Amino acid sequence: MPDAARRIGLCHRDEIVDGSARGFDPFDSGQDALFVVGHGGQPYGYRNACPHVDGAPMAWRRDAYLNSTGTRIVCYAHGAQFLPESGRCVQGPCLGQYLQPVPLEVDGSGVLYAWITNRE
Ligand code: FES
Repeated sequence: MPDAARRIGLCHRDEIVDGSARGFDPFDSGQDALFVVGHGGQPYGYRNACPHVDGAPMAWRRDAYLNSTGTRIVCYAHGAQFLPESGRCVQGPCLGQYLQPVPLEVDGSGVLYAWITNRE
C-alpha cells in the first residue's frame, strides 16, 4: 500500500527565481528526492529520477538541474533535455517521456511546500 502524501516545507517561494533550480532531500537520504525549477514566474517540482533509466539521479553536482541558459532541465547521465513547464523530454534518449511531477503549494506567507511520499 503506498504511503500517503505529506506536505513538506522546502523554502520561501522567492528563493526559486526564473532560470534557477534547487534540489531538496526532505528524508535526509543523502540524495535529493526532488527539485524545483523556476520558469515563467512559476515554480515547478519534479522527482529527481530520470525516465530514461528508472530512478537515476539527474544532477552531476548540487542543484545542477538546468542547462547553461536555465531554459531546460538536463539529465547529465546521457544528456536528456526536458521542458521546465511540463517535464517532457524534447531531446535525448527518452524523447517524449515525462519527469514525474511533484505537486507544490505556496501558503499565505510565501512558504513553498511539496506534496510527496517517501516511497514512490
Ligand atoms: S539516465 Fe537520464 S538521460 Fe540517461
